[in-house]
Amino acid sequence: MVHSVNNERAWDEQIILALDYQDKAEVIECLNKLDGQVRYVKVGMELCYAEGPGIVAYLKEQGLQVFVDLKVHDIPNTAKGAMMSLAKHGADMVNLHVAGGVAMMEAAREGLEQGTPAGEESPLLIGVTMLTSTSQQTMNEQILITGSMEETVATYARLAKKAGMDGVVASPLEVPAIKQVAGSTFITVTPGIRTLGSSKGDQTRITTPEKAFERGADYIVIGRSITQAPNPAEAWANMITILKEGK
Ligand code: C5P
Repeated sequence: MVHSVNNERAWDEQIILALDYQDKAEVIECLNKLDGQVRYVKVGMELCYAEGPGIVAYLKEQGLQVFVDLKVHDIPNTAKGAMMSLAKHGADMVNLHVAGGVAMMEAAREGLEQGTPAGEESPLLIGVTMLTSTSQQTMNEQILITGSMEETVATYARLAKKAGMDGVVASPLEVPAIKQVAGSTFITVTPGIRTLGSSKGDQTRITTPEKAFERGADYIVIGRSITQAPNPAEAWANMITILKEGK
């Protein structure tokens, strides 16, 4: 990822809009409201379980890049099979939980490569570290992982790199620690993004788009700050203006 002068960057290639809807009609309405400004979208469980993975091909036909966020987490053999199936749908990025361990991640990588149609490039394979809705207190007291969030995420990033992942999902707050342990070319995808004034919702580890990029995020994932805004096109355009001005 090239980090050039702020106003020369193609911000729309690095901002992934979360299409958290239950049917295609809502997706079409959302994309129409955004006036063709979006170039990268995310299909999560909500949309994929409702519409089926065919929605990925539909979005690709609209000229969009697609991140399929199904967070695979299972035994290695099943994770491998899941990735073989997913690879056929033409996604640009897919993910799994690092907590599944190195053997699971390696099997998933194998499945993804085997399932990718001949002549096509395999999607980027990204590991989820700690969900951005999880606070350090929840991690320590409920999930029973001791230590700081930053240490845990950095450890997961190291494991993901060892298992051949292309990068990790984490909060923007942990990006510098991830780059330190896994190197600057190891991709960071960061949800937990809120434009100023929008509601935090269920997320806990959040920051603004500009701060996320300042911390070195390669991609940001943004949903409700844009999709639930009174005027989504205006909210998107304002975000891009702030990024271009390097505020
Ligand atoms: O609406 P909001 O901007 O909070 O949406 C964030 C999106 O990123 C959601 O689709 C959520 O499932 C996803 N996500 C996340 N934290 C992760 C991985 C994915 O919030 N660690």
